Amino acid sequence: MQITINNLNKVYKNGNHAIKNIELEIPSGMFGLLGPNGAGKSTLMRILVTLMKPSSGQVKVDGLDLLKNRRQIRSMLGYLPQDFSFFSKLKTYEFLDYAARLAGMKSASKRRQAVDQMLEEVGLFEARDRNANKLSGGMKRRLGIAQALINEPKIIIVDEPTTGLDPEERIRFRNLLSTISTTDVIIILSTHIVGDISSTCHNMALLNKGQLAFAGSPEELVKQAEGSVWLIKATEAEYLEINEKFPVISTIPAEGGWEIQVVADEINGYYGEQIEPNLEHAYVHFMENKLNQWSNS
Ligand SMILES: Nc1ncnc2c1ncn2[C@@H]1O[C@H](COP(=O)(O)OP(=O)(O)OP(=O)(O)O)[C@@H](O)[C@H]1O
Ligand SMILES: [Mg+2]
Repeated sequence: MQITINNLNKVYKNGNHAIKNIELEIPSGMFGLLGPNGAGKSTLMRILVTLMKPSSGQVKVDGLDLLKNRRQIRSMLGYLPQDFSFFSKLKTYEFLDYAARLAGMKSASKRRQAVDQMLEEVGLFEARDRNANKLSGGMKRRLGIAQALINEPKIIIVDEPTTGLDPEERIRFRNLLSTISTTDVIIILSTHIVGDISSTCHNMALLNKGQLAFAGSPEELVKQAEGSVWLIKATEAEYLEINEKFPVISTIPAEGGWEIQVVADEINGYYGEQIEPNLEHAYVHFMENKLNQWSNS
């Protein structure tokens, strides 16, 4: 499985240029789409699930043109929109059965089996007879995930799927996707939560203001931040200064003041040591440096 995106652009009717000249290859497995608010993640996803046409450019799925083969590609898709919600009087299992029917599963007995299994997998089996509308926020989210996965799609596109999930549910969800992730499945997951990507995705892209800022493995992104993450031991007085000068990642009270993690190439004048970067550091480092350079040039 492979998705190839060539010179993709999306300009909304109001003139918003939400996707700018994106060139990207998405291989099989879990693919993380990271970027700040308004970066264009949801726009890109809506194009990939054929809900919206690009203004220009091309998307190919295993060599098939996305627009010319819409029906065929749609049958391979599972999608969880960012604003997934539903208004219905259906019970949880009825809702999922309905989703399965929409996805083209014709046999009622096969549907029943698939629905039960999926309810089990997302931990909603006990809630199967409850009104779907009255589930808790996190449970609705899980039902959303279930409807995206019900027809065993080859391309799974989930937009901020872990929003509203508690930490345990988030881990369960990650594991669920990891088990589905095989060589002939593509799972694209957008998120603000850097940790969701570092623990599951072999490949990722970073979007900013509609542009592709980075594509590669999380490890490659982390490498770029090597030498630029510091642990500063600061006095009470220095604390505010540092906060003004550098992006601060974390602050922990320590003897005589604070231990502060900052992302910076130099920490002139302060007492500190370099530490190993993680993906969160790398994300901040990237946003601070690369993008400033680009926008200045
Ligand atoms: N229907 C629309 N009409 C006009 N502009 C839009 C529309 N939808 C999104 N935009 C704009 O396009 C840009 C990208 O939005 P998009 O929702 O794709 O970003 P995002 O990365 O998903 O953000 P978030 O992290 O907040 O979900 C933003 O500037 C947004 O305001
Ligand atoms: Mg979005």
